Amino acid sequence: MIKRILDIFYKTRTYYGDDFDWSNYTKRSYYRRLINNVQDQYHTTPQLGEVIFDDEQKKVINRGVPLHPNQLLLLEAIGILSPESVHEAGCGAGDHLASISIVYPHVQCAGGDRARSQLDLALSRHPNLSGSLGLQDITMPYSRRWPRSELVYTQAVVMHIHTAVSHFVALSNLARMTKKYLLLIENFQSHNFVSDINNLFGNGHFANWDELHMHRLDASSGSKALIVSKMPLDLPKIHNDRQLREHSCRSVRRLKKANIDSDNGTFGYSY
Ligand SMILES: C[S@@+](CC[C@H](N)C(=O)[O-])C[C@H]1O[C@@H](n2cnc3c(N)ncnc32)[C@H](O)[C@@H]1O
Repeated sequence: MIKRILDIFYKTRTYYGDDFDWSNYTKRSYYRRLINNVQDQYHTTPQLGEVIFDDEQKKVINRGVPLHPNQLLLLEAIGILSPESVHEAGCGAGDHLASISIVYPHVQCAGGDRARSQLDLALSRHPNLSGSLGLQDITMPYSRRWPRSELVYTQAVVMHIHTAVSHFVALSNLARMTKKYLLLIENFQSHNFVSDINNLFGNGHFANWDELHMHRLDASSGSKALIVSKMPLDLPKIHNDRQLREHSCRSVRRLKKANIDSDNGTFGYSY
């Protein structure tokens, strides 16, 4: 009973600020959600050969157990972009990385998370990820020790970062970690992703990027993602946040917070 009350208090406390207390997140929130909200409806990883990418139709075909629409979106994105290496920032329980290594065994997989308890959970669920995971806080100053990959992606990570200018730091770090593409599967009302990324790139915060191209990926599973790329892709272009938020149920609270966070940014060097 006391634990239940504490859980309710924990959720209420984090509701408006959003940034979780990542040190006790696994025990107090993540694991419960994984079991109750994900695993009761979906399998978290496919079996070998159940999911294949159809190169002609540019979509994944799932002949096996139901997978979460975002999981299928990620697998479809990898089929379309065909990277040699991927890195998941904020990899949590490691289910996405484990799925990628089953469907695309030739792709080199790595993941980072700022919570050791999350990495422990990932390794307990997927021992084959041993040696591919590391502690990493993407709101820290960039580290040359972070692995670089052709595709860097996040799922439900940047949307939770709202402390001061941390989400700008995270986006700039993710851009620097990638050799080709940054894939964001986030709640696109939580931040003004498109205008924030345009401001970061336009004012020199994307190190080693000469060009910026943003595309929307509408997966066959119904989920959508933002692909930020160093080169143009044969996908619908995204010029503003409105395009990215089409068909989403409007959240006044999130949009207000997104604008407050955007206003925190001081870009480039000017007077
Ligand atoms: C909602 S969970 C999503 C986990 C996983 N991406 C998934 O889709 O199942 C958010 C994850 O991001 C991690 N995280 C939050 N802030 C982070 C940061 N600054 N750097 C790295 N990881 C972070 C948390 O520890 C947590 O594992």
